[in-house]
Amino acid sequence: MCDVQTLAETGRATGLQWPRMTGVAQKMWAEQDREQGDRWRLFTAVAGSVHAERVLYPGSFVDIAPSFVFPSVTYIDTDKRAAKFFDDVHGVRAIVAAHDGAPASPDITFRHADYTSELGLEPESFDLLVSLYAGFVSEACTEYLRVGGTLLVNPSHGDAAMASIDPRYRLAAVVKARSGTYRIAADRLENHLVPKKPIEITPAMLHERGRGIAYTTAPFAYLFQRTR
Ligand SMILES: C[S@@+](CC[C@H](N)C(=O)[O-])C[C@H]1O[C@@H](n2cnc3c(N)ncnc32)[C@H](O)[C@@H]1O
Repeated sequence: MCDVQTLAETGRATGLQWPRMTGVAQKMWAEQDREQGDRWRLFTAVAGSVHAERVLYPGSFVDIAPSFVFPSVTYIDTDKRAAKFFDDVHGVRAIVAAHDGAPASPDITFRHADYTSELGLEPESFDLLVSLYAGFVSEACTEYLRVGGTLLVNPSHGDAAMASIDPRYRLAAVVKARSGTYRIAADRLENHLVPKKPIEITPAMLHERGRGIAYTTAPFAYLFQRTR
């Protein structure tokens, strides 16, 4: 058995007994988790550097991996298949429980909604906001992240670039991926988010492009701290 601390230190998850995939949620998770344990390793590495009780994951689809390490996660997605996945409450809980070190009584909430719409969530009530391959989550949902909280964002849809020009954020660390493991690095941050070509980054141009900026370095993702 490995506990969360050990996983956080190594960024490598071991000891999982993969459940037999029988129900709706398990089948969908098997498809999502094709690179077995990849997202578990990602969120374990993040949990090793960011203390978060409450996590908000807009555009999650069926990526339930944050619940393997964080006690309370609110997932949001417009896709009907995500709603079907989270409707299988027992199946989702079984997937989480199969992961060593998972919270004993995880709080898992799903909103079948557009994250740009009025969500009725309490402002500044989350410790960690997750933005992975799901558009401009930071632009729409930073209001729900507490000041001092963390945005985990990858660059592919342009949301990392959006956060880089958002005065509410400062770059706190990068998430480096290597051979299926993840490591958080907070040194030499000035070498990151440097565009390969001179370019003026604005919200309008990012919306128009709908994709990220080519930077001189290419970490898997970034951790920004909300400062105001
Ligand atoms: C490419 S998938 C990524 C899923 C997950 N974040 C991952 O990394 O595996 C993008 C997801 O974002 C959802 N999405 C995109 N825009 C959204 C919006 N405005 N509101 C809610 N969900 C949205 C889509 O329905 C889709 O499930």
